[in-house]
Amino acid sequence: MSKISTTYMGLELKNPIIVGSSPLTSTLEGLKKCEDAGAGAVVVKSIFEEQIDQDSAKMIKESSEYLTHADGAAFVEEVSRNYYIDNYLTLIEKATDALDIPVIASVNCRSLGSWTDYVDRFSNIGADALEINQYILPSDMADDSARIESEYLQLVSAVREKTSLPLSLKLGNSFSSFAHMIKRFDDMNVDGFVMFNRFYQPDIDIAKLSLKPSVNFSNPDDYGLALQWTALLSAYLEADICASNGVHDGEALIKLLLSGAKAVQVVTAILKGGLSVIGEMNSTLEKWMDEKGFDSFVDFRGKLAHKRLDNPAVWERSQYMKSLNVEF
Ligand SMILES: Cc1cc2nc3c(=O)[nH]c(=O)nc-3n(C[C@H](O)[C@H](O)[C@H](O)COP(=O)(O)O)c2cc1C
Repeated sequence: MSKISTTYMGLELKNPIIVGSSPLTSTLEGLKKCEDAGAGAVVVKSIFEEQIDQDSAKMIKESSEYLTHADGAAFVEEVSRNYYIDNYLTLIEKATDALDIPVIASVNCRSLGSWTDYVDRFSNIGADALEINQYILPSDMADDSARIESEYLQLVSAVREKTSLPLSLKLGNSFSSFAHMIKRFDDMNVDGFVMFNRFYQPDIDIAKLSLKPSVNFSNPDDYGLALQWTALLSAYLEADICASNGVHDGEALIKLLLSGAKAVQVVTAILKGGLSVIGEMNSTLEKWMDEKGFDSFVDFRGKLAHKRLDNPAVWERSQYMKSLNVEF
């Protein structure tokens, strides 16, 4: 056990850096490179609920001339769904065989769709944990927050019932009462919260006057939201917090551990700076621990969390008062 080893959702990690779900983790080769670079764990690139549904609809369309009987369409739908899910499960299975570090499967979904019928298969093929990235864009004016929240809760409850694997939720913070929702998920025996997801946002091409895809990389200052919420919640939850979104260097990692995170997820910093970022972050952490005389995370993790401070209200400030004295 090294001085920077940690546990996350009951999994043993040799260090707190998890490579998040992304192109870095979409192939066996990529996953192996993450391990070789020193990652503590990996989250495999997600399988997408809508992709499963779209691809099976496409396969049905392509076979429509042969599908003269309604049962035929149902059969093709089932086969095509299985085809895409099987491919994903094969990748997870190969990764768990080839890697010594924990391999976390990831499902990207909106609702309690048919994909939940397949949840038990993740444990059969040896995944170490399952991360659910559920997001409902609340853009329908007819939907009130209670209805949307109940959709999240139903899904988590259904998935929890179907698997005993360590289960994490990768969340955004745009619930009206985020702390209340987290508590409700925590009461459902979720094992981890990944805070926060970073959402894809379309962009506009002003030359062509049309929409264009965009890659929404984080910036090194973006970890602040995860820092605040990790500090506010970590000491009050059963589940572990894995901080994410804008973790670019060892200093951010240390701050997130001080606020109570068990681990962090990193994507943009590696996509931009290469896999050596993992080693650099870990050595900044080890050097800092040496300087402070800390032998393990027990000595300092969560030391600056809301619950541990004499004046915790500082974590509750969200409006500026007087933090800058500048002249214009
Ligand atoms: C190109 C790209 C692809 C991503 N694909 C996924 C994905 O399939 N599933 C997922 O849960 N998150 C995905 N993410 C989000 C990342 O896992 C991560 O949550 C986000 O980038 C914030 O972390 P960072 O600040 O370290 O980049 C993707 C991010 C990027 C940049």
